[in-house]
Amino acid sequence: MADQRIDVDPNLHFPRESEPSLDFESDTTSIASEIAKGRIENGRRYQALKDDVYWSPSDEQQFEAFELGHMVCIMLDYHRSNPLFSAPIGENPKHILDIGTGKGNWALDVADQYPDATVRGVDLFPPPVTWVPPNCIFEVDDIQREWTWREPFDLIHLRQMLGSFTAEGWKGLYQQCFNNLAPGGWIEQIEFDVRVKSDDGSLPPDSVLAGWGDNFIGCGERAGQSLTTQETMRASIEAAGFVDVHERLYKVPMGPWPKDKLLKEVGLLNQQHWKSGLEGYAMWLLTKFGAPSPWTKEEVEIYLVNVRKELKDTRIHAYGYVRRVWARKPRDDHMIQTLAKDKESS
Ligand SMILES: C[S@@+](CC[C@H](N)C(=O)[O-])C[C@H]1O[C@@H](n2cnc3c(N)ncnc32)[C@H](O)[C@@H]1O
Repeated sequence: MADQRIDVDPNLHFPRESEPSLDFESDTTSIASEIAKGRIENGRRYQALKDDVYWSPSDEQQFEAFELGHMVCIMLDYHRSNPLFSAPIGENPKHILDIGTGKGNWALDVADQYPDATVRGVDLFPPPVTWVPPNCIFEVDDIQREWTWREPFDLIHLRQMLGSFTAEGWKGLYQQCFNNLAPGGWIEQIEFDVRVKSDDGSLPPDSVLAGWGDNFIGCGERAGQSLTTQETMRASIEAAGFVDVHERLYKVPMGPWPKDKLLKEVGLLNQQHWKSGLEGYAMWLLTKFGAPSPWTKEEVEIYLVNVRKELKDTRIHAYGYVRRVWARKPRDDHMIQTLAKDKESS
């Protein structure tokens, strides 16, 4: 499916400003602690648990983008019996972990689906939730610290964690995942490619959107925390000792231009996802690592005005890739020990 061209809807019209747009409620939380207050920069709130090394704000605007991203991911696998994940963990998982849970949407949905499992969501910033099912636990922590959970997990899930860690950090994280999964347990990761494409030349090569991907990949490189995670995660997961590796690549339209009804819905949601996330994707990375030198807040704002214009233009048939990888920890103790020995001697 990912290498197929998406047909353009010939009846597409230009929406008027007065037409209703998607409207999502933003939650606020009043957890009274320094961690929950975060750190304010350029009008956005960032996590305050660890040093200033991570790009995404943790505020209502960005939580709205996380929620829309969650909906896009679910729509992509709408026709599957379980659109939340693909790892075949069976009917009775006991322990599930969501790393970098964000607004907590995935953890909450999985906790609903498996009421007998304990689902943990961990993040640098507390998710804005007022009620959680009793089998869902949110924890504020840096996942790069040594883990203290005792129970082996049946599934560890990561989504949109691009740009969170250095290459060494990723290596250590996959190793922690491997060590903390039950034999036969699964890891699953889903990541967006930041590059924007079109198949029919409708995205002008000199457009802001066409240059978006390389602009941000450059920022990630200068930050030492690459944004190309969707390209590298499979090999890194394999290198950590996982077996039975599966992969699915999705082509995700931006905007309502596809003819296919489901893809049109996905495109609308993704357009909204981009609109609400844009400033949060751009502000930290460009004001710290923009080229040729860090940008001012005003320069970022002007850039984003142009991105928004192009995002609204339904003559542009843009899309991006999303990749899902899932893999299993070997069941066999002997195989795990051999892998550990191989790693020690390499
Ligand atoms: C782009 S958001 C994605 C959120 C969520 N996974 C989703 O798909 O909606 C990435 C999240 O990872 C969290 N994160 C980044 N580095 C982390 C770390 N070292 N430990 C825990 N969480 C981290 C961020 O705070 C942020 O909420």
